[in-house]
Amino acid sequence: MRTNQPQTIYLEEYRVPQYLVEHVDLRFELFEDGARVHNTLTIQRNPAADGNPGPLELDGDSLRLESVALDGEQLPASRYEDEGSKLRVKDVPARFELTVVTWIEPQNNTRLEGLYKSSGMFCTQCEAEGFRCITYYPDRPDVMARFRTRVEADKAAYPVLLSNGNPVAQGELDDGRHFVTWEDPFPKPSYLFALVAGDLVEKKDRFTTCSGREIDLRMYVEPRNVHKCDFAMDALKRSMRWDEDVYGREYDLDIFMIVAVDDFNMGAMENKGLNIFNSSCVLASQDTATDATFQRIEAIVAHEYFHNWSGNRVTCRDWFQLSLKEGFTVFRDAQFSADMGSPTVKRIEDATLLRTAQFAEDAGPMAHPVRPASYMEISNFYTLTIYEKGAEVVRMIHNLLGETLFRKGSDLYFERHDGQAVTTDDFVRAMEDASGRDLSQFRLWYQQAGTPVLTVQDDYDQAEGIYRLTIRQAVPDTPGQTDKQPQHIPFALGLLGSEGQPLPLRLQSESPEAPQERVLELTRAEHCFEFHGLTERPVPSLLRGFSAPVRVHYPWTREQLLFLMSHDPDGFNRWDAGQRLAVDVIQSLLGAADDAEIEPRLVEAYRALLQDPSLDQALVAKMLQLPSEAYLIELSDSADPAAIHRSRDRVLAYLAENLRDDLMACYRRQTGTVDYELTPEAIAQRSLKSTALGWLLHIGDEPALELAKAQYAEADNMTDRLGALRALVNSDFQQARTEALASFYQRYSEDPQVVELWFSVQAGSDRAGQLPQVQQLLAHPAFDWKNPNKVRSVVGAFAGQNLAAFHNPDGSGYEFLAEQVCRLDDSNPQIASRLVAPLTRWKKFAPNYSTQMRTALERVRDKPALSRDVYEVVHKSLA
Ligand code: ARG
Ligand code: ZN
Repeated sequence: MRTNQPQTIYLEEYRVPQYLVEHVDLRFELFEDGARVHNTLTIQRNPAADGNPGPLELDGDSLRLESVALDGEQLPASRYEDEGSKLRVKDVPARFELTVVTWIEPQNNTRLEGLYKSSGMFCTQCEAEGFRCITYYPDRPDVMARFRTRVEADKAAYPVLLSNGNPVAQGELDDGRHFVTWEDPFPKPSYLFALVAGDLVEKKDRFTTCSGREIDLRMYVEPRNVHKCDFAMDALKRSMRWDEDVYGREYDLDIFMIVAVDDFNMGAMENKGLNIFNSSCVLASQDTATDATFQRIEAIVAHEYFHNWSGNRVTCRDWFQLSLKEGFTVFRDAQFSADMGSPTVKRIEDATLLRTAQFAEDAGPMAHPVRPASYMEISNFYTLTIYEKGAEVVRMIHNLLGETLFRKGSDLYFERHDGQAVTTDDFVRAMEDASGRDLSQFRLWYQQAGTPVLTVQDDYDQAEGIYRLTIRQAVPDTPGQTDKQPQHIPFALGLLGSEGQPLPLRLQSESPEAPQERVLELTRAEHCFEFHGLTERPVPSLLRGFSAPVRVHYPWTREQLLFLMSHDPDGFNRWDAGQRLAVDVIQSLLGAADDAEIEPRLVEAYRALLQDPSLDQALVAKMLQLPSEAYLIELSDSADPAAIHRSRDRVLAYLAENLRDDLMACYRRQTGTVDYELTPEAIAQRSLKSTALGWLLHIGDEPALELAKAQYAEADNMTDRLGALRALVNSDFQQARTEALASFYQRYSEDPQVVELWFSVQAGSDRAGQLPQVQQLLAHPAFDWKNPNKVRSVVGAFAGQNLAAFHNPDGSGYEFLAEQVCRLDDSNPQIASRLVAPLTRWKKFAPNYSTQMRTALERVRDKPALSRDVYEVVHKSLA
């Protein structure tokens, strides 16, 4: 806990470490009332560091120091300073062995950083700076060492003892205790260390690598979860094969382990050879997991596995380089998911997340570059910008270089930097060296925060047959950054003729066989492109496939959008046209009279989608999702969430009223007795079914109520059951809603992950999630403040999804959130700091909202002993 103002750390101040660690020998004695950690480090001065090395400095956090020995001799207290967060050992030789013994209390660790207990097992989370909560250590990623770890614990309570690498010894000890020793042959930074001890069941499988090596695959879960492992295990094998096929990356240890734990701050962690997962991101069965959960699990299993190369074999020099591993790995897992399912749907989902949440972050008080220049608390920088925008930046390099040269670049990167801790600049340089392309201007994507805005104007010259496109770019100011330079933007586009036919894109005097799609490279504040040989005014299809993470302004007419919605050969842009049209219609109702006319052509466009089974149903299912309230808020300058909610609801009701029969017909078309499958087609069917139900229940359709009840009761999978439940919960059929919620809880009360769904369906609903009801959820016996998933499923869902209730004009939603943030700040600062985010967007809202949001933030700011995590976010947003 903090007493003074936290320090800011600057990238500029990076210095190579004074001392390097060659080897770490750890011995953990695990007990119920604490753990003793014996840590023997083989240390030497760093030959690359200049000047007088001074005392050895080790990082520590919440440790009780028991002893320090140098080369086997206990050191007197005069030889070292124990400052709590630093241990300084004076007068050390050029090479020596240091043994530090510390005592920690995992059973009282509610921050879930370092070593802690979750449902009776011991587990760790060391990224970014959790290892210093276990023992004193130079806890920075550019110090890489080989680890040997001996774990000792009671054998009956903790039969399974795991750490990184391979098991090399095990045996019995006195008093019913036992030990296992693990050795990891690959030097690694401390953030990749992991330990698990528990009464876990082992699920085994194997994988033969491309060079014929046999890998032992294991999942460790609590006995009640054994039936929920198969999907993740298969996803792991698919990931291993894919990384060999697409990136030429083979797994390197003989054993790969996955452990599921219930209490976890994030999704999962790529510890070397021992990935630790939040249960909700790895355990699944048809009866308990939705399609979305299955897809998320597949993506996260792949993500963590891919880190073995992009993160572990080649790691980050310092935490400013976090996107080096995260952006690249998210890009890799997105490519993988696209290959496993529908590429268009995957792209739509990623673009939606980016445009809804990352653009908002990039326009808010915590906006930061993909490679930040400073931070107070690094945990606050595990952001959508580092992950998702970082992945978009890598995707743009991929687009600029093309498949083959990109692969040449990644091969060079892995070869050149294997075993090293490097920077995003090293990554870009490898891409440049392999391709011969100059990416110097492109590097601005790593340095400048803010979402570039492209303003597009066009003009058609009938007499000359020339279509001119003028594109201007501007990168907005962000905290601490103004007057930004133009960035290097790949801009994919096509032109369509009046029949919907793709037209050749002939720049100046090119031949008529010009391509039908081009990627223009924008590098200046303004470009003008001339397309020749056009006999009619084309409709432009801009930024196809979302080829860059930018905003595009172009004065689309509703005719053009309707036309693109049904004709654009680029699936992503068909969807995008539909979204833009819906946004336009919803926005035009803001502040309009209650009986203002709603665009009738929107109904016809949706009818066409519902009636034509020859269309790609996966795309149709996405196109039928109206833009979310969060996205509509993001698009406004002075948002009035209540008005946005009303307008969106009105459009939804209008569509549903006018499409009653089509929705019903669509629903019936999707029902048949097919086996549950996870193909894009089957996922689309289920999505269409629940969307149709949701729309019909929204307008109180009685026949749909019966269908929803039947779907709820008869579902053979969680997607259908939850889809029906959600439709009921979001309807005005109060009795049916109450009954379904009660039945659902009764059915799944023993399953924490499903109970989390149950919480979030209610807290996220404008009908079931008004503040008093949310308060009741917090008092529910299944709610647990110590479990981050529960907090997210109630408090997070309320503030993140139930925007009408959260933004109640009386300010009660803000006050509520501030109170929960303060409560969590003492026990789990990382979670508190993430939870406060919705309040930090106060400048985005109309005055009556923003003043109250500000007041709530000030209340958090004034909490005594505020954690560094929350301090940074709150102070930056009030600045
Ligand atoms: N590296 C993990 C990943 O795969 C995330 C862990 C972050 N943990 C944290 N406490 N900030 O993305
Ligand atoms: Zn990651």
